[in-house]
Amino acid sequence: MKILVATDKPFAAVAVEGIKKEVESAGIELVLLEKYGEKSKLLEAVADADGIIIRSDIIDAEVIDAAKNLKVVVRAGAGYDNVDLAAATAKGVCVMNTPGQNSNAVAELVFGMTIMVMRNYFDGTSGSELKGKSLGIHAFGQVGRNVARIAKGIGMDVYAFDPYCPDEAMVEAGVTPVHDINELYSKCQFVSLHIPATDETKKSINYDLLKQMPKNAVLINTARKEVIDEESLIKLMEERTDFKYISDIAPAAAAEFKEKFDKRCFFTPKKMGAQTAEANINAGIAAAKQSVGYLKNGIDKFRVNK
Ligand code: 3PG
Repeated sequence: MKILVATDKPFAAVAVEGIKKEVESAGIELVLLEKYGEKSKLLEAVADADGIIIRSDIIDAEVIDAAKNLKVVVRAGAGYDNVDLAAATAKGVCVMNTPGQNSNAVAELVFGMTIMVMRNYFDGTSGSELKGKSLGIHAFGQVGRNVARIAKGIGMDVYAFDPYCPDEAMVEAGVTPVHDINELYSKCQFVSLHIPATDETKKSINYDLLKQMPKNAVLINTARKEVIDEESLIKLMEERTDFKYISDIAPAAAAEFKEKFDKRCFFTPKKMGAQTAEANINAGIAAAKQSVGYLKNGIDKFRVNK
């Protein structure tokens, strides 16, 4: 039996060691394919894999078709919009994610990037603080909850909108529940996005929503670039010179954003939210355990293609 770790953006070496140990101690061979760049290399490597562990790597119908022995795909992380669930289901392949394992890393990056931008990239000029400012958390899942915890420590006023989360969970975290999305955006100077990229959410963060944000608005996106209606965000930022956009992964129109808005926007060169040793270890080892658990005992906790 073989498990392939296919990560174009590799895990930290210490995480790879841990994954290897988990897999090999179960008597399963581990094959590592890192920084593969081209899809053809992935297609070749999956040919005899029983399981695949991935990050944001694209597992589409072609990859699933090429993996004749495939039984399980584990996305070491939260978002699984990179996996064709219908194609997997059609071939009887179980797809799982590892919820919560990298959420603190993403939440810390929200504040790392925000503080850097609010302090003018530490260029020697006077910036501004987060304490006492309003933060809206759009979707109160694992990352949103970690963002709330850190924001409370900083002394921000924290609000959250999430129709799938009971008010009690927000109140318990010291967060004010908001039931109308427009209210979240009109109340909060800072909004942090934690929604998945789905047919409903793609391009849902648009001009009409964002224009309601108060003066000196800052939108922070550590979710997915696809949830932003980029064209309408550009229009808004042209109209409002007080508006800033921070994103973990560059938008499709990054060059235009940079040319027009320069330091009013900041983008990481690669998705960096989960790129810490701790998150790699947590998500990587969870993915290894889940892959082994499925292949050996059929355990499918965290299955996402039911
Ligand atoms: C996730 O969905 O878990 C994060 O976006 C992390 O993605 P990555 O594993 O590609 O860094």
